[in-house]
Amino acid sequence: MSFDLVLFGGTGDLAWRKLMPALFQAFRHGTLPADGRIIGVGREDLSDAQYRAQICAKFVNVELDKRPSVEEFNSFAALLEYVRMDLSKPDDYATLAESLSLRHADTVVMYVATAPSLFTTVCEQLAVAGLNTPNTRVVLEKPLGHDLESNRAINETVRKIFGENQIFRIDHYLGKPAVQNLFALRFGNALFEPLWRREHIANIQITIAEDLGVEKRGAFYETTGAMRDMVQNHALQLLCAIGMEPPINSHADAIRDEKLKVLRSLKPWTAESLSQDVIRGQYSAGTINGTPVAAYREEAGVDPESHTETFVALRTEISNWRWAGVPFYIRTGKRLAGRDARIVVNFRPTPHAIFNSQIGMANRLVINLQPKDGLELHLLAQGQNNRQGAQTASQTLAPVQLDLDFDKRFGLERVGAYERLLLDVIDGRLNLFVRSDEQFEAWRWVEPILEHWKNDMQGPRLYAAGTWGPSASSAMIARDGFCWAEES
Ligand code: BG6
Repeated sequence: MSFDLVLFGGTGDLAWRKLMPALFQAFRHGTLPADGRIIGVGREDLSDAQYRAQICAKFVNVELDKRPSVEEFNSFAALLEYVRMDLSKPDDYATLAESLSLRHADTVVMYVATAPSLFTTVCEQLAVAGLNTPNTRVVLEKPLGHDLESNRAINETVRKIFGENQIFRIDHYLGKPAVQNLFALRFGNALFEPLWRREHIANIQITIAEDLGVEKRGAFYETTGAMRDMVQNHALQLLCAIGMEPPINSHADAIRDEKLKVLRSLKPWTAESLSQDVIRGQYSAGTINGTPVAAYREEAGVDPESHTETFVALRTEISNWRWAGVPFYIRTGKRLAGRDARIVVNFRPTPHAIFNSQIGMANRLVINLQPKDGLELHLLAQGQNNRQGAQTASQTLAPVQLDLDFDKRFGLERVGAYERLLLDVIDGRLNLFVRSDEQFEAWRWVEPILEHWKNDMQGPRLYAAGTWGPSASSAMIARDGFCWAEES
């Protein structure tokens, strides 16, 4: 099968950091169809050779084992071409159309990794140039829009030009191996299903913590913030994967229908819940791994009086028969105590305690997304040795852990999120992409929070870089009688 992948934003941060390394991995693994072309599109005037040299230079920022050797890069570079375009100029699309018509590839992928404000322009111009043919797929990066209205407007325009099955709205968290394993755990094993409900689960905690700051993306982040950057998409998609009903089959729409129901069942916000159950924070100066780091307000491109949130913690519920009353806590932030993404499922304690130490202890399932990818099941066992006497031993329980490390079990050379998703686009598999109605519901739910913040002059609570965020986040969860997993 032949393909042309046109990368709008071909000289942008995402292309350097994620897309090119992912395409190279697929090339190295032999999974990228051999008859392919990757056409980077940018504003600069570059020859193919200069573009290739730029990409080659950027690989120094990639982990050592994922960098190409000189021979590998040369073979990979043979797929790379460059086209200079001003995305507002129809003539430039005509030039692109000409380049594509040189070899009618079986599949043409238009990957729009530009600012969201350009999504509609690019799609409209593609249509004018006759580039919305049935063998074309369009990939739209997140965030798709800035709020409910802009998301609706983008989707409306794009859907006039491309059919829904040609639109690949990417959320790279869905491509993470741990998320695939979450689906496998829930729908490939019968063990947990009877327990996966309000009768047995006390609360669920979704944490996506990063120790990095906003890096060089201060100007982008200033107008985005953690709610739009992480909660509206990545965190809610994880919540869907945890909370959804088993789909009737593994087809894209069967899965997306079930995720949609979760989003529609999220408890609506009230004035009270908005002020009590949503905490926003912003990092001040602190220390990460022993190194002092600057406050968010001191980052390049950031307003020194910025109210943009770099941290969000919130509490919600899924109002349906399975989950009514079970709190779901979401927490995400930059410059936190570590890079740590996990979902913690806290089961209810036994209804009656016969062991001294049992009170307040319960089983827990931890789904680790990163840095390690695996499962932990926390159980209670009699941990005493024989010398401590039969009486004490029979009365005392200690926590023990079953630990499954998927990286060790399946090897570290696993398919990365972007690699997997790019191959899915080329093959036309939509399962791990987000449908427009899902996005709409997610924005609909997030919007009252954004509105509430607009009118809240207090701004975000400051937290020192290198901590777990403002103390209000712990106080929020403590109101329900629980604590964040790392505090227990
Ligand atoms: C991106 C956000 O979608 O996800 C970034 O825009 C964030 O701000 C990144 O750093 C986190 O992705 P990962 O895969 O490193 O957890």
